[in-house]
Amino acid sequence: MDVLEAEFLMTAVNVAGLPPPLFAELAFAGRSNVGKSSLINSLAQRKKLARTSSTPGCTRGLNLFRLTLRGDAKLDFVDLPGYGFAQRSKTERLSWGPMIEGFLKQRVGLRGVVLLVDIRRGLEDEEHELLEFLAHIGQRALVVATKTDRLPANKRKPAGMALTKASGVSAIPFSAHTGDGRDELWRALLRMAAIGQPAATAVKQ
Ligand code: GTP
Ligand code: MG
Repeated sequence: MDVLEAEFLMTAVNVAGLPPPLFAELAFAGRSNVGKSSLINSLAQRKKLARTSSTPGCTRGLNLFRLTLRGDAKLDFVDLPGYGFAQRSKTERLSWGPMIEGFLKQRVGLRGVVLLVDIRRGLEDEEHELLEFLAHIGQRALVVATKTDRLPANKRKPAGMALTKASGVSAIPFSAHTGDGRDELWRALLRMAAIGQPAATAVKQ
């Protein structure tokens, strides 16, 4: 997938602070440091669109990005702050749950949520809770198993299949460092956002 333009629009502290949705929107959720912002950069083919860091807790607030795809379709991404990171102040930690939950529940136009899971870590309580929450509010979910470059090649596919089984939703193995799984992930995201594949890409496949 070629991304013609990619821009950072804004950060909001709650769903009310975001502009009204104009285009199809997908959100990226997951544990702190799992690679959400790196995945957005990889999908957008931009190195520094979303801020990344080896220190957990890098992304705060709801970060809105707008991508222009081949064929001029627009797609918005929301990079969510990571959960499960203990070193933040208590007030900040307490405000994040409602911020993420409020966004997922109230954001009109949200077409789906991509839940990132470290391929070596698998699903833990928080991921099960989030998937249950999404099912409860009727929001579509997709699981991405990140950092596949850290597993030997022959272990990646089985790990992805195990995650699909454990989560009950389709899991795609992915690496922001090598680009492994990028095309498959783009296809799944376009399906989830209900955006048709641009003709040129469809012909090539
Ligand atoms: P928060 O904003 O804190 O929630 O983190 P995040 O989920 O946005 O993670 P981020 O993209 O900032 O990446 C965290 C760390 O993981 C950085 O050091 C990245 O370089 C690293 N990382 C991200 N994706 C990959 C990957 O595919 N492979 C490897 N090996 N490292 C990765
Ligand atoms: Mg981040």
